[in-house]
Amino acid sequence: MVENVVATQIAEVKTAVASTVPKLSGRAIFDKLNQPKKMLCPLVDHSELAFRILMKKYGCDLSYTPMLNAKIFAKDHKYRVRNFGPLDGIHEMDRPLVVQFCSNDVDELLKSCEYVKDSCDMIDLNLGCPQNIARSGHYGSFLMEDWPLIERLINGMNEAGLNNTCKIRIFPDIGKSLDYAQMCVDAGAEWIGVHGRLREQRGQITGLADLDYIKYIKEKIKTKSKESSEEQVVISNGNVIYPEDIKRVLDYTNCDAVMSGEGALYNPGIYNFTEDDDVESAKGLDKIKDKVFPRVDKILLEYYEIVLSVMADSPASMKSFKSHVFKLLRPFFEKELDLRNEFGPMNKVFEETDEFKEWIKKVTERIEKRTMEEPENFKDEISLDEKNTTDDVKYYNIPFYRCQPYFRVIDGVKNNERFKIMRDDMDDKDMFLQKLKSKKQKVKDDY
Ligand SMILES: Cc1cc2nc3c(=O)[nH]c(=O)nc-3n(C[C@H](O)[C@H](O)[C@H](O)COP(=O)(O)O)c2cc1C
Repeated sequence: MVENVVATQIAEVKTAVASTVPKLSGRAIFDKLNQPKKMLCPLVDHSELAFRILMKKYGCDLSYTPMLNAKIFAKDHKYRVRNFGPLDGIHEMDRPLVVQFCSNDVDELLKSCEYVKDSCDMIDLNLGCPQNIARSGHYGSFLMEDWPLIERLINGMNEAGLNNTCKIRIFPDIGKSLDYAQMCVDAGAEWIGVHGRLREQRGQITGLADLDYIKYIKEKIKTKSKESSEEQVVISNGNVIYPEDIKRVLDYTNCDAVMSGEGALYNPGIYNFTEDDDVESAKGLDKIKDKVFPRVDKILLEYYEIVLSVMADSPASMKSFKSHVFKLLRPFFEKELDLRNEFGPMNKVFEETDEFKEWIKKVTERIEKRTMEEPENFKDEISLDEKNTTDDVKYYNIPFYRCQPYFRVIDGVKNNERFKIMRDDMDDKDMFLQKLKSKKQKVKDDY
């Protein structure tokens, strides 16, 4: 069925005509897209087509593509085919969509935009990538010291009539962070996404995002048209782990939308609720657990079917499949090592589909075995994690066979057990920065 819908929608996209109407304001674009509040972050190797379709089925209002490198995209046909095929940005199924580029060259950026502008709703400039490759390539967060270049890039998109946005990180100084965001908006960004972390917060020592910085930016920032009575559209990024965090972050920062990265990767059900659902109590969450903490075997099968239906035109969806499976099944694999070991070497998942489907059946059987044989240990219930919950922050116990947030272990302490340390880190940014710089990151080049 998915295949039929895809075929019809390809035809629609092919007949789409480039828009010639004057540019709308950021607020008008936001309204036109039905005020998307729950967004999926740009995620290299992870927010590709199939995952976006899955997220949309699970209540996500708008997705970003992974970061695409404009330098390569502009000139390399193969790179384009691999990363943005004919199904990307297809109507209904993959819209609204924001395509994200990293760039340090206006011509390359505009040339790349030409290829995608009719298959998306906005184009985003990546100003947050902290990886070493971004340092050497001079893009992402390594443009934070080169404001004139950022102005040229954003202005170039603006002058070309493109609906554009950018995603920034914060500076240690709150005033400078606001000036920075304002500069991007004045250069022409219709929306601005603020990831409330420093450039140095990455990999294992990501820590918390500072929502106070985001709140401050949202409160003070002005739209580029200073006479306009419209409020600047600001998207908050960071600290969205559980369904209830969406309202909490929106209420606290007064932002227009939230975007989630890791929260959604480990649990695509994070947005799958309506205003009538109670997502603020364990009892409420328990009632809708199949929606907000889907069973790993169920979602896996659904996701697999989506990949099968798009893979001919979306190599990226195929490439990222296994990595997603490891994330979706993280808590399950920790307990059921034999099934993890069986899955690990499987490299013909898409050719011998029976093999993979048989394996999923084993996952289901294992869940049933555990819950039937040891009902007291593996009760299918969401409850409050009283040990780690404090006045400031709540955590939940979720059965290991349901998708759930992943808390990293740092210096032997799990993230959900080190909330106070992370809070203290945020209070003195300069000290925190020293701490981050002195810590030798053992991790691979990570976000
Ligand atoms: C696997 C992974 C890939 C990412 N890729 C991108 C990217 O392509 N572009 C970008 O702007 N940020 C990227 N990020 C950062 C996320 O968009 C987001 O800002 C970050 O994860 C913080 O949000 P979170 O706390 O909800 O995870 C990536 C993060 C992860 C974990």
